[in-house]
Amino acid sequence: MSSPMAWFEQAGLRALRQVDPERAHSLALYAVKLGLSARPGPVTSPRLKTVVAGIDMANPVGLAAGFDKNATAVNGLSRAGFGFLEVGAATPRPQEGNGPPRLFRLPEDAAAINRFGFNNQGVAAIAARLAQARPAVPVGLNLGANKDSADRVSDFAHVLKESGAHLDFATINVSSPNTEKLRDLQGPDALRALIETVLAARYAMHRRIPIFVKIAPDLDDAGLALIARVALESDIDGLIATNTTLARDGLKSAAAGEAGGLSGKPLMARSTQVLARLAGETDGKLPLIGVGGVASGQDAFDKICAGASAVQLYTALAYQGLSLAARIAEDLDKILEKNGFARVAEAVGSARERFAGP
Ligand code: FNR
Repeated sequence: MSSPMAWFEQAGLRALRQVDPERAHSLALYAVKLGLSARPGPVTSPRLKTVVAGIDMANPVGLAAGFDKNATAVNGLSRAGFGFLEVGAATPRPQEGNGPPRLFRLPEDAAAINRFGFNNQGVAAIAARLAQARPAVPVGLNLGANKDSADRVSDFAHVLKESGAHLDFATINVSSPNTEKLRDLQGPDALRALIETVLAARYAMHRRIPIFVKIAPDLDDAGLALIARVALESDIDGLIATNTTLARDGLKSAAAGEAGGLSGKPLMARSTQVLARLAGETDGKLPLIGVGGVASGQDAFDKICAGASAVQLYTALAYQGLSLAARIAEDLDKILEKNGFARVAEAVGSARERFAGP
């Protein structure tokens, strides 16, 4: 860490720790938009290159939803080292989200709690930005529903229709804990109906973009098995595991009692276990994307061995800076080589049982 950019990033991180976390995040995103962050371009190698649900990725390390909710910094983020980006969540109409404070640092736990509640500028503004963007990697959108909507199912399809022409994939997000009753859409009947409605919107598009469903880490085994079955019976292209958790086990930080979804290091073990169990239920028939607590190349490797074809991260970037994206991809390359894998795809699910637990 000796280049001027590395020094600048460390100084920036120190300064940002002194301000309110939501403000710090907005400033960091603005810096990316202005081109003030490291931009090594997508990290790649023959070993890291992969295809997930038909999406060509330079490497399997992606940005998780929620980091760039309004797609304001897509070009810069796409050159930070990631192999793909997910922006949003976008809802049909703009909405404020919950009142502040709504983002909390848990530094002693390398974690965060948020209760944003889908604050975003609405799909029209987001789609217009995506239409103008010239990203270096594939970009997907996290689909959400307005809090006060009378028909949330139609909301997801509406967001896809408005933005689909500018996307490489979309994610049906039924797992944010901060919109009341959203997670009820993970039940088998509700999920089946939702998937059908969103896929109808996709069939009406000129291109067939992959559609993923993102699930919560707080489902029990029966719930996971049902989701796997619904997913396999439907025409969706993969599952993303997981969103933030309502669990609060073993935390040390002062903000541990705040309401909202917990992300970061304390989520790693459970989200990887959910991933491994889903991999067991879907038996290689459906690509999985692993997210929750990834902060190193080893974490990314563990998720891949548990069954992920690609990974995503958010919270660790707030602690370690955006240069972490490239570092994780480069370290993953070395770890794959050390373990005898010529291609990342060969490692997918190679230690599933170790992570699935009893
Ligand atoms: C999120 N996450 C999220 N997920 C999603 O599907 N739609 C969203 O709008 C958001 N918004 C959001 C905001 C903030 C502030 C955080 C910290 C997280 C969840 C995120 O994509 C990811 O699933 C979890 O944070 C777990 O990954 P990390 O953060 O532990 O790497």
